[in-house]
Amino acid sequence: MIKVRVPATSANVGAGFDSLGLAVSLYNEFTFEEAPKLEIVSLDGALIPKGPSNLVYRSAKAVFDQLDIPMPGLRITQQNAIPMARGLGSSSSCIVAGILGANAMLGNKLTPRQMLTMATAIEGHPDNVAPAMLGGFVTSVFDEGQVYSVKKNIDTSLVFAAFIPNFKLLTEKARAALPQNVSHKDAVYNLSRAALATAAFCDGDYELLGVATKDKLHQQYRLPLIPGGDEIFAMANDLGAYATYISGAGPTIMAVVNKEDELFFERAEAAMQEDEKMRAFALHRLLADNVGAVVE
Ligand code: HSE
Repeated sequence: MIKVRVPATSANVGAGFDSLGLAVSLYNEFTFEEAPKLEIVSLDGALIPKGPSNLVYRSAKAVFDQLDIPMPGLRITQQNAIPMARGLGSSSSCIVAGILGANAMLGNKLTPRQMLTMATAIEGHPDNVAPAMLGGFVTSVFDEGQVYSVKKNIDTSLVFAAFIPNFKLLTEKARAALPQNVSHKDAVYNLSRAALATAAFCDGDYELLGVATKDKLHQQYRLPLIPGGDEIFAMANDLGAYATYISGAGPTIMAVVNKEDELFFERAEAAMQEDEKMRAFALHRLLADNVGAVVE
């Protein structure tokens, strides 16, 4: 039996829309084995498709198809800890698991780059699948069907405060809220900050993250879809987070915090209790994952 564990991911990191992403310590686990017919089991009771439309299965099938090997019957189990439709890369975890699981079943014929490209083609952008596969903070470009990624380990002096709401926001809806065109000025606003955020992670200069994670391409259009999001941003910034941004397409709000700041979480919990809108969010203290997906 092949086992695959994939971390949650937090994409965009503010200005790096569809490019930057980082992996955090929340995991989905999957198993794969040949079986007489397709059987998909959710070990945690999550409602998931049990037929060929299942994303793990479809991603595994992409590997068999690429290698021109007939798809056998498969028994797949999923244990989901990453909440779905919350901007924490739950879909990416399924795609990465399906590809890595199938590749392991077939004797590891694909290279990591081929698998990352395949995962990106299925997801449409690399900012979740790349850190899900590689761990750490990953900068990626998807150009003419090829993915180009650089991974940097995240310093253990950082912790991540994930404010996860009790409501979902589908990525399609969050992408539909974006404008078709942006001004040259807004493009420059973002590209300079995405570059600075990358340099800040590489250099360990986290004080820069406040300005480097500001964005004009997506967050202002998505915040109206996240009741309480503005309040979480203001509260986390007031409490001294290095940076606060919408995780992926939302609705989770992520704050990057100094690990030494022992009081951040306590104060944030207290502030959330006092505000009706913020009570819809649960605060999770996550660490960086610098390992990425693991296959056994
Ligand atoms: N970059 C993507 C977005 C991440 O913001 O829509 C979610 O899949």
